[in-house]
Amino acid sequence: MTEAMIYEYSKKGKRAWSMPQKYENINENDINQWIPKEWQRDKIGLPEVSEPEVVRHFTKLASMNYGIDIGFYPLGSCTMKYNPKINEVVASMDGLKRLHPLQDVETFQGALQMMYELKQFLSEITGMDTIHLYPAAGAHGELAGMMIAKKYFEDIGQGKQRKVMLIPDSAHGTNPASAAMVGFEIVEVKSTPCGQVDVDHLKTLINEEVAGIMLTNPNTAGVFETDIKEMADLLHQNGSILYYDGANMNALLGQARPGDMGFDIIHLNLHKTFSTPHGGGGPGSAPIGVKKYLEPFLPYPDIEKTDNGYSWKEKHEKSIGRIRLAGPNFAVLVKTYAWILTMGAEGLKKASEDAVLNANYIREHLKEIYKDSVACICMHECVLSASSFEKYGVKAKDISKRIIDYGMHPPTNYFPLIIPESLMIEPTESESRQTLDSFIEVMKKIAEEAKTNPELLLNAPHHTPVGRPDEVKAAKDLDVAYIAE
Ligand SMILES: Cc1ncc(COP(=O)(O)O)c(C=O)c1O
Repeated sequence: MTEAMIYEYSKKGKRAWSMPQKYENINENDINQWIPKEWQRDKIGLPEVSEPEVVRHFTKLASMNYGIDIGFYPLGSCTMKYNPKINEVVASMDGLKRLHPLQDVETFQGALQMMYELKQFLSEITGMDTIHLYPAAGAHGELAGMMIAKKYFEDIGQGKQRKVMLIPDSAHGTNPASAAMVGFEIVEVKSTPCGQVDVDHLKTLINEEVAGIMLTNPNTAGVFETDIKEMADLLHQNGSILYYDGANMNALLGQARPGDMGFDIIHLNLHKTFSTPHGGGGPGSAPIGVKKYLEPFLPYPDIEKTDNGYSWKEKHEKSIGRIRLAGPNFAVLVKTYAWILTMGAEGLKKASEDAVLNANYIREHLKEIYKDSVACICMHECVLSASSFEKYGVKAKDISKRIIDYGMHPPTNYFPLIIPESLMIEPTESESRQTLDSFIEVMKKIAEEAKTNPELLLNAPHHTPVGRPDEVKAAKDLDVAYIAE
């Protein structure tokens, strides 16, 4: 199925709306009377279409899309789990969705209380002393965290000395990007064959220039960093800090806390673990957390409890400043709060247990066929490899394209970079054993096809409107402008 641009349906005079009779014949003079000239927009060239055309156009586009409400979505590192609809309902309640961050605090005490309590829940879940709710994406949280690290070292008179940020070779690209943006030099730490940080290599890199290390645990190979305590001690003895990228927190809820592992600064991706999908195209939210000694450097405003209720706290004495103009992405916070309350402590723990169980179930069934180069028990995601199919001319990407033909979303490909032809599979806790078995069946079938009929994979997908766009051009030379004739 394909679909035309909405402009291609456009004909002068078609309308999807009507006005009361008295406004039907308005002219320019009337408009000038009602709307001052300087507020009027020039003609912006909207399409002129009928209501059925609008409805059909967008319904067709929606049906061409793929989402978690349609089927299995094991996109590693993105935690594309099913998020209960009730949380969307709660977040769009009138009393919540019509709030404005700049309205008088007396008029939204309930919202402030909710955010204040959410900070405490997230503190408890992560083991951090204080949480700040403002950052709008994982990368934004990292940037704020790196700014805090920089400011802290400047404050203790080591700003010039502490110029290096250590980052494992398996890290997500946003980690080195965030650290570099605040002026740290990046030094790469090698991984072991099991995908963990190579502690012997780390030891050779630690010196008085090291400001800290950025780690995610479980790491991007889906493996828990069992040496984390030793690493934390080594870095702390050196006066360095540990930053925790909480993108993989779905493996750890109620099981282990970054604060207890020795991390000093963290971020969480609420738009993964806490009832908002990552990659959903909507706003994200990535609160950061710090240990007590870093609290003065947190961004402002924050929320405080006073004798008269709740209020904005405008300034911390050594704050890195304001990181967003208005408030946090409030709807995501509401969904998080609702989800935590519904799940309860036991429910959160169970969610992570099931996420880990599901990933290991898939790994056990597929590891012989899709060479498991990491070869360790995984946490909430497993990283398999398609490298044994290269002899048939088939790559990870071709396997993924063929998965689409079977009505499922492919896993993440080519990340982490340290694993050749990687297929990173994150089933999440919300999938049934039946769904996992169907996926395993599909992966086995595709492995057979790769041997007997590789062309089938090389030309896949066979039923989508767009099959194989030039991915480099699509990213680097994107042209979405439509010029109406
Ligand atoms: C390990 C890891 N770190 C950081 C990020 C960045 O998060 P965001 O996309 O919200 O900026 C991601 C995103 O997928 C990730 O997987």
